Amino acid sequence: MRARLVDGPVEIPVREMPFEFGGHVPCVWDESIPERCYKTHALSLEVAFLEPYFIATIKEAAERVADEELAERAIAFCGQEANHSRQHTHFNRTLKQSGYPGLEKYEKQIQRSLVRSRQEHSLAYRLAYTAGFEALTLASAERLFEKDLLHVLDKAPPSLVAMWVWHAVEEVEHKSVAFEMFQAVHGGYALRCRGLLAALKKTADDMRGPVAYMIEQDGRTGDPELERRMRRGAWEDAREIIPRLLPYFRPGYHPNQHTNPSVVARWRDAHASGKTLLEVHPRDVLPSVES
Ligand SMILES: [Fe+2]
Ligand SMILES: [Fe+2]
Repeated sequence: MRARLVDGPVEIPVREMPFEFGGHVPCVWDESIPERCYKTHALSLEVAFLEPYFIATIKEAAERVADEELAERAIAFCGQEANHSRQHTHFNRTLKQSGYPGLEKYEKQIQRSLVRSRQEHSLAYRLAYTAGFEALTLASAERLFEKDLLHVLDKAPPSLVAMWVWHAVEEVEHKSVAFEMFQAVHGGYALRCRGLLAALKKTADDMRGPVAYMIEQDGRTGDPELERRMRRGAWEDAREIIPRLLPYFRPGYHPNQHTNPSVVARWRDAHASGKTLLEVHPRDVLPSVES
């Protein structure tokens, strides 16, 4: 029996991006959570290249599906992801200029593997891969909002907070597009599961090098306290993310079975009321902050 769909498609607006990062961003913005800072930047490095890959895959698939409503949402998906990629590229450039030029080597590695995938993998596989990454970003967005992981961003520059919160909101908004596109073009259960496992592996692989490099640049390689925090952070991530991904392995799974975090509707309302993205601070919309 199919599970009930909880939160169906919401509007997918393509928003303007006014963030400026200045000429410098701090790599570790909060000394009490250096491991989170390094991992957040490593993720930014990866998504800037993943999103153009998603766009190319979804556009190719959209030409083959007859569902006009899905094709329309695919256009909005591509608009949102293009803005994410542009903004993260902008941020990553500022980070590299802030004392981490060697990150470029890792960017090239990430990009090379995606170019290879576009050359070697079938559309069905690339769609499964894209849908897998989208399941992972949805799980990460849910975790950010529902578990109040936003304290991690408490001392971060406002533009960095705005970028990640906006990005997470839009990941929730377009959560079902890649999955439905995969279902429309191929729909095989085994391939869908392989796509998620491959996305998990690539994300872990892509983040390892940049994290180690940034730690080395900061002269903290071998710091036992940091190593302890990294191990504990990895355990916490697994404990929070894996249970959110398990439903993906149910044959009747659909992303709309996930309830949208309430903060998403609050953020959308605040933004729709005319505030700029920088003015919609998560503290204004998070339930835990209201009480
Ligand atoms: Fe995105
Ligand atoms: Fe996405």
